Amino acid sequence: MYLMESTEEGRRLLAQEGASGYVRSVLVATGLQPGARALDAGCGPGGISETMAELVGPAGAVVGLDLNEERLREARARNAHRPWVRFAQADVRRTGLPDASVDYVWSQYVFEYLPDRPVALAELMRVTRPGGRVVVSDIDGLGFQNWPFPEHLRVGTQRIVDALATRGFDLHVGRKLFSEFRSAGLQDVRVHLLPYYLVAGAADERLMKDWEIRFAALEPVAAPAFGGHAPYQEHCREFLRMLADPDGFKYAVTLVTEGTRP
Ligand SMILES: C[S@@+](CC[C@H](N)C(=O)[O-])C[C@H]1O[C@@H](n2cnc3c(N)ncnc32)[C@H](O)[C@@H]1O
Repeated sequence: MYLMESTEEGRRLLAQEGASGYVRSVLVATGLQPGARALDAGCGPGGISETMAELVGPAGAVVGLDLNEERLREARARNAHRPWVRFAQADVRRTGLPDASVDYVWSQYVFEYLPDRPVALAELMRVTRPGGRVVVSDIDGLGFQNWPFPEHLRVGTQRIVDALATRGFDLHVGRKLFSEFRSAGLQDVRVHLLPYYLVAGAADERLMKDWEIRFAALEPVAAPAFGGHAPYQEHCREFLRMLADPDGFKYAVTLVTEGTRP
């Protein structure tokens, strides 16, 4: 089960992508070219698939895969005017795509949820042609880089992460991908570090909403670790107050790992 699922998840993902501003340049920097056949593995509401479609143009093709039907419906609606983009329901670990059928694979904020990442990476490599590029973008330590960061808030944040870890979630997946790409046999492996957010002062409304939706979605898994819903919600309120503090500094990174399929 996808831990972050909620009625507001599509909106959160589009806001997050719109705010990041770097996706287009990182797609280009990691080798997405006009005319390419590209895969967006775990595409969510299709905002990045849309940018990929603009970059490859009608001479190329984009396939977006996701497990969630509602996300796919949103993605299809966004991209209805581009016949060279299609979406299908599939697990990134079993895509059903033919061998060596794409030139470029992108997967963002999906590997963090997969307890069996080598299986997913092997599948993404299988569908990539020799010489094609596999790119995985993910978090590393999201939620911990804050100052001031009162100790009880740090402990509460760790409690949430530990609860999620029992469901296969890995907060530090970003730093692990370089060696996992190398072990899988990918070549010319490189890593880019990008800001997920950087807030000197009070977080804006978009980031506050991002965290509010995240906390609400994680409540069923995380609340028991606090002994119930009320103490969990109190932790979340305090964390949000910290984000809103005009004297506080907060940041989070995204690590983008790319490699060539031999
Ligand atoms: C955090 S969202 C990221 C969406 C998009 N890549 C982005 O960056 O905006 C994670 C997405 O992965 C999907 N997902 C989770 N596990 C998956 C799996 N095993 N196979 C395919 N999609 C999966 C979820 O349904 C969700 O839409």
